[in-house]
Amino acid sequence: MVIELILMATKSNKAIKISQKHLLGIQDLSITDVNFILSEAKQFINLNRSKNKKLDTLRGKTQINLFFEPSTRTQSSFELAGKRLGADVMSMNIVNSAIKKGETLIDTAMTLNAMHPDLIVIRHQDSGACNLLSQKVNCTVINAGDGRREHPTQALLDALTIIEKKGKIQGLKIAICGDILHSRVARSNIYLLTMLGADVNIVAPTNLMPKDLEKFGINKFSDMKKGLYDCDIVMMLRLQNERMNSSFLASNREYYEYYGLTPDKLDIAKDDALIMHPGPMNRGIEIDTNLADDINKSVIQEQVELGVAVRMACLKIFCN
Ligand code: CP
Repeated sequence: MVIELILMATKSNKAIKISQKHLLGIQDLSITDVNFILSEAKQFINLNRSKNKKLDTLRGKTQINLFFEPSTRTQSSFELAGKRLGADVMSMNIVNSAIKKGETLIDTAMTLNAMHPDLIVIRHQDSGACNLLSQKVNCTVINAGDGRREHPTQALLDALTIIEKKGKIQGLKIAICGDILHSRVARSNIYLLTMLGADVNIVAPTNLMPKDLEKFGINKFSDMKKGLYDCDIVMMLRLQNERMNSSFLASNREYYEYYGLTPDKLDIAKDDALIMHPGPMNRGIEIDTNLADDINKSVIQEQVELGVAVRMACLKIFCN
């Protein structure tokens, strides 16, 4: 079903247009929108592997990256994506900006808006900051991660990675494990993977398990060996220490023993189960270092690679 929709979208891309001006969250997208974005992204995979990666799709457009939180993967891939599509890309250096002198997010947004950008990519520590920004500027806004709310392009690149490796998402059993409570990656993936027909297991200690996700039809587990049973995909998450305002864990060692992905726990999943992680990883805390690097099981580097293709698709679709 999903593949059929992707093929339909691929054949008739010219007829499809996403109605939203901004990409603020997976919850704002329809299944048709998602399949359109994924089919566009597929077309950029080979381009990114070729010698000449430059297009002029966004020539004359100005993209501003505004990252209030640290980022390696998301910021660099949005910058590469914009440049490969021919946009003029400016990444704000927040540390040396007037924000350090007390300027607010809104005043910063209004200042940048006066320079007529076509697109702002924002990462912010507050859930909903991107929605607020989108109400204050004239250009398109893309959410590169807001607080614990959403990280839509991460979920889209995760979906594309699964489709590339397994050929489908519908009917797959996918475990998302770790600090679900503080994770925007978990939320966006739960919305997207359930929309695409996956059977999603959430595995977390009880104090890192959110209470508001039942309505999405997920299965909740506090025992990792039960949660990983027969799974096709095991997606591990980082402990988001920066979002914890009290002590949630006895120790990293104890967390690793019960919730770290180790060979014996992975054995509970299917023989051909794939390991995913959005990064950055804490080796030896949520994942065994050899498993993270096992090229027969881990698709973590493929996730990073496909992140550029997905972000090119999002820039092309939302900025045009
Ligand atoms: N997955 C992810 O968002 O990584 P960065 O924090 O490095 O962007």
